[in-house]
Amino acid sequence: PKVKGLNGCDYYLYQCFWYDPSFLEGIMSVQERFNPQSTDIFLASFPKTGTTWLKALTFAICTRSRLSGSTTSSLLSKMPHDCVPFMEYDLAQNPSNRDLAIPLVSTHVPYTCLPKSIISSCCKIIYICRDAKDVFVSLWYFLARLQMSENVEPLLLEEAFELFCNGIANFGPYWDHVLGYWRASLEFPEKILFLTYEEMKKDTAAHIKKVAEFMDCSFTLEEEGEGEVQKIISMCSFEELSTLEVNKHGQRRLDTSITIQNSIYFRKGEIGDWANHLTPEMGARLDDIMERKLKGSGLKLPR
Ligand code: A3P
Repeated sequence: PKVKGLNGCDYYLYQCFWYDPSFLEGIMSVQERFNPQSTDIFLASFPKTGTTWLKALTFAICTRSRLSGSTTSSLLSKMPHDCVPFMEYDLAQNPSNRDLAIPLVSTHVPYTCLPKSIISSCCKIIYICRDAKDVFVSLWYFLARLQMSENVEPLLLEEAFELFCNGIANFGPYWDHVLGYWRASLEFPEKILFLTYEEMKKDTAAHIKKVAEFMDCSFTLEEEGEGEVQKIISMCSFEELSTLEVNKHGQRRLDTSITIQNSIYFRKGEIGDWANHLTPEMGARLDDIMERKLKGSGLKLPR
């Protein structure tokens, strides 16, 4: 089956999730062929839930020992998506298209559609999710900016909202994406760390420490004393990253036809911005859908 998707293109249903065809090819190819390194850590997320921030934080965590002395972090000159490759995009055609010294790979692929090699390996997965209303607003702005840069008229926010509420989004339904990783995190707590954008924002220090521990690179007391956690928080903050030259004016090429301005990955970085764009009725409707879909799972997403 196919439907008109949020970016105006047809989306296809594959293994219970909707995909823009440009993603589908990469997903099928990694399902067949992708082989992770046993030490790899996967950063999994639905688009617009905090992927860029999670990439920056985990990259900073696992490269911090190299930062002593005069070395500066690559995060100052490279966009976080260029520091941590996407499995289904960057590595689909060429799995060696990565720095093997960095054990990080990211993916938007739903848990049930991940390559079996990842599930059966001892690789760890860090999943981040976010309030659905903020995800939708963030996604709508992202797609609108992308389409305007290609001189395509974006869908009306109301039209896109209707699709999103029906589960239609790239890698959607959103709730099924979240539920897949949530259930797996309950079953395999040593393998999957489940995070929310909101909790990360509210207590970034505690979460950075938790993430570092999960990644087997906990902060030593000495590092904590030297303010290493705070340094990472500041370096990866929205304010800091969004004002770097590379993120303000750089761009990345997704495939031969799409060039994305790095700045569109940094919009506001706030909790609750949905209220400035959706009516209270729209907000209540999406909350209601999420509540119904997550019922019985034990998961309560922050609102
Ligand atoms: P908003 O559109 O609500 O501002 P993703 O990285 O998954 O594409 O998600 C993008 C969202 O994360 C955007 O949300 C973006 O502004 C926000 N974001 C990007 N960098 C961030 C950072 N360093 N800290 C917090 N939020 C960040």
